[in-house]
Amino acid sequence: MNLNIALLPGDGIGPEVLNQAVKCLQAVEETFNHTFVYKEAPVGAIAIDKTGNPLPDKTLQLCKDADAVLFGSIGDPKYDNDPKAKVRPEQGLLKLRKELGLYTNVRPVKVFPTLIGKSPLKEEIISGTDFTIYRELTGGIYFGEKKLNEEGTIASDLCEYSEKEISRIAHLAFKAAKNRRNKLTLVDKANVLESSRLWRKVVTKIGESYPEVELDFLFVDNAAMQVILNPNQFDVVLTENLFGDIISDEASVIGGSIGLLASASIGDENALFEPIHGSYPQAKGKDIANPVASILSAAMLLEHFQLFEEAMAIREAVDKALQKGIVTPDLDEKSNFGTNHVGDFIADNIVDNDDDLNINDE
Ligand code: IPM
Ligand code: MN
Repeated sequence: MNLNIALLPGDGIGPEVLNQAVKCLQAVEETFNHTFVYKEAPVGAIAIDKTGNPLPDKTLQLCKDADAVLFGSIGDPKYDNDPKAKVRPEQGLLKLRKELGLYTNVRPVKVFPTLIGKSPLKEEIISGTDFTIYRELTGGIYFGEKKLNEEGTIASDLCEYSEKEISRIAHLAFKAAKNRRNKLTLVDKANVLESSRLWRKVVTKIGESYPEVELDFLFVDNAAMQVILNPNQFDVVLTENLFGDIISDEASVIGGSIGLLASASIGDENALFEPIHGSYPQAKGKDIANPVASILSAAMLLEHFQLFEEAMAIREAVDKALQKGIVTPDLDEKSNFGTNHVGDFIADNIVDNDDDLNINDE
């Protein structure tokens, strides 16, 4: 298969972890005879420094023309505590999501058996956890009207959702549940928010077309508790933009490190793959960042194009690294292995298992 992949390394540890994902994709190309073409472009703080714009037009066009985007991370502390900053790195990512129409963000949460001791949560609680968060990504409070009065003393952000915005992601979430364990949990705040009541109404109606899927509802405050109290109750979690952002960081605790969680952002015409972690500026250039989330994002990219064996080869190589303790210090304080070493190990262990079988058969 030929694929054009836009690479957006972004800020902080983004470039380092993205490099490891590219190494793995190159190993996949070689092992499975594909041709991937990579084109890189700036986004985020680095793009502001270069052009004044966190999402330069050229970068956006490159992404639109590509088959898929592989994203590093975004954010720089010099903007975080500057309320006067007119442009922020994050605007680059938000605009990219909007312009590419990436309305569904898929965030799988799984426990790697070898890492079960790494989570601060008890083994009996997290053992077997396997759920997927469907986070709405181009609507809600992130994109509603923002206001600040002249005195700078009153601010507001509008949370708005339309039936259409809810139904398109809801269909994808129900379909995912059908292919999994037939359970969908809508997380909202319908006891307080009008927008949440619309979510419940629309999702309930759509649920009638998926009778095999059991639908239940949780208020987000309760959901925040349930996610770490009894994560095994979840199969597919559907929620709006801000709640999904918060719940998914929380859920990363289950797996032992936020450096393990990958995501796919899907629209009708475009797709982008990125780790859920941020730019972790303190680790930048130190060769300590965990590349696994980025590498697993590449696996999700391959799955998006139905390259399931290829994705499995990456996943198995990741499992092998974890089993052998080839991990970065976030998973083992005593580890001397860096980002590059872990990336090399995983890339070197990408093999075509079908070939192995054939050899054994002979
Ligand atoms: C994420 C990030 C982004 C978000 C930031 C960087 C804008 O936290 O992808 O979860 O809030 O969506
Ligand atoms: Mn987030």
